[in-house]
Amino acid sequence: MTAHEYDVVIVGAGGAGMRAALESSQRASTAVLTKLYPTRSHTGAAQGGMSAALSNVEDDNAEWHTFDTIKGGDYLVDQDAAEIMCREAIDAVLDLEKMGLPFNRTEDGHIDQRRFGGHTRNHGEAAVRRACYAADRTGHMILQTLYQQCVKQEVEFFNEFYVLDLILDADATKARKGADVSVVGVVAYELSTGAIHTFRAKSVIFATGGAGKVFKTTSNAHTLTGDGMALALRRGLPLEDMEFFQFHPTGLAGLGILLSEAARGEGAILRNSTGERFMERYAPTIKDLAPRDMVARAMANEVREGRGCGPHKDYVLLDLTHLEPAHIDAKLPDITEFARTYLGIEPYYEPVPVFPTAHYAMGGIPTTVRGEVLRNNTDVVKGLFAAGECACVSVHGANRLGTNSLLDINVFGRRAGIAAAEYAATAEAPPMPADAADAVTTQVATMRATVGGAGTERVADIRKALQETMDRDVQVFRTNASLTDAKKKIAALRERYASIAIHDRGERFNTDLLEAIELGFLLDLSDVVVAGALARKESRGGHYREDFPTRDDENFMRHTMAYARPNGIKLDYKPVVVTRYQPMERKY
Ligand code: FUM
Repeated sequence: MTAHEYDVVIVGAGGAGMRAALESSQRASTAVLTKLYPTRSHTGAAQGGMSAALSNVEDDNAEWHTFDTIKGGDYLVDQDAAEIMCREAIDAVLDLEKMGLPFNRTEDGHIDQRRFGGHTRNHGEAAVRRACYAADRTGHMILQTLYQQCVKQEVEFFNEFYVLDLILDADATKARKGADVSVVGVVAYELSTGAIHTFRAKSVIFATGGAGKVFKTTSNAHTLTGDGMALALRRGLPLEDMEFFQFHPTGLAGLGILLSEAARGEGAILRNSTGERFMERYAPTIKDLAPRDMVARAMANEVREGRGCGPHKDYVLLDLTHLEPAHIDAKLPDITEFARTYLGIEPYYEPVPVFPTAHYAMGGIPTTVRGEVLRNNTDVVKGLFAAGECACVSVHGANRLGTNSLLDINVFGRRAGIAAAEYAATAEAPPMPADAADAVTTQVATMRATVGGAGTERVADIRKALQETMDRDVQVFRTNASLTDAKKKIAALRERYASIAIHDRGERFNTDLLEAIELGFLLDLSDVVVAGALARKESRGGHYREDFPTRDDENFMRHTMAYARPNGIKLDYKPVVVTRYQPMERKY
């Protein structure tokens, strides 16, 4: 075992992790641990844009952006956090521009902006052009730009290091309210050797991304297994609002691969089997550019009512055929190539089959606006921070607006990096306990011992069954019956997980072992999603209960705080921060 020490350790090298590293490494010794290579992080798959009220092409302002974010999030957004995000958005974009990000430009040389769902002028009057973009590969450009800056700044990366445990100096499940609990560091598994490493740090930032692989049909990469969220949960920390999962309307049908909302921003239209532009019925003002939860539900409803397309009537069509091919090539080169490659469709002439795909976790590890991780409704874990999709500062509430996630990672990644370094400047790091790596060492050894032993269950089979359960029972439409069924099935899968067999005996590049560990994370998180969804007897944003089809502000305008306890998931609640905007019915 190898022991390391830094002021700040950042787990995850996507946009949030690297934006944090750029701040922290200027102020404190910083290491970034990633289970991938930084440039393979999932930020690179984000397509359509990053929102900021620059007013480069239309009149806009941060207050309209804040309002849209809160309304889009169905009033579960913490309004103080949304105000910060939308105000700091402008500098966040300009910072990236100064770093060299090749944004698309207007004819007069300003950063160009395009329309995106739920972003409006003057509190809903009409769609506004707020998304700054680099064709349909904005996330890729952000990731490359941040990585180049990290290299320039000599940030130290530990690539292909899987963080498998978080070490705190006290048991968070037993600590009293108000008592100090501090971070000590993390334990990591080195993929290329199988060696275990401990990293002691005054501050740790989790920036580990999302958990889309709990679902089968998802835009998320294979690696999005919610590792940071699950590790926090296992250490007794809460997860917030995990029942709110976003289904992006336009996944390639049957595959889930993302076709950016930018297509609709550039004028593409959703049509059902009769050729009808059905969003006119669901959102008469902004139609196809309504927020994602509404569009995804409308699409699923068209299919349920028999107006789906194709031999099984199980998708709708995204029509770009009225757009000029040159415009498509300039603005949407990647996604149109995806349609050609994966479906054999030529989007110049044929509409593209699409259906909602699991895309984004609105919930996550609860944080303050400085990225400090909460261990209950009020106390922070000293020295522990989180940012990006794994975190829940609650700027997205019950439904995130498109382009607000690239914004979130930049604004709150930066804030967490500064706060972590500032904390490290004055803090004393608690000692790393001698047995800190024991849990991981035992976990790895136990899984390896199943080689040729009693284990009979295959990881891939359990993962497939879990993902199919989540797709069937916890998707766009949910009921008490579907969720109860999912809960039972997940419990049965947990039992099977106890007898998995790992077939790779090796120490080097043992992805078999890591997939088994990741499956454990997915099972834990699925339990939390389902528990929160069962208890939330209302419909709000991405969580739609057919048996409780309306929003219930009296009983449920509050955040879910889920804790893992020996007898299951325990739920608590936390008030929503309201500053200026009282909840209203959401109409578009
Ligand atoms: O549709 C998209 O380009 C996705 C953007 C986002 O999730 O923010």
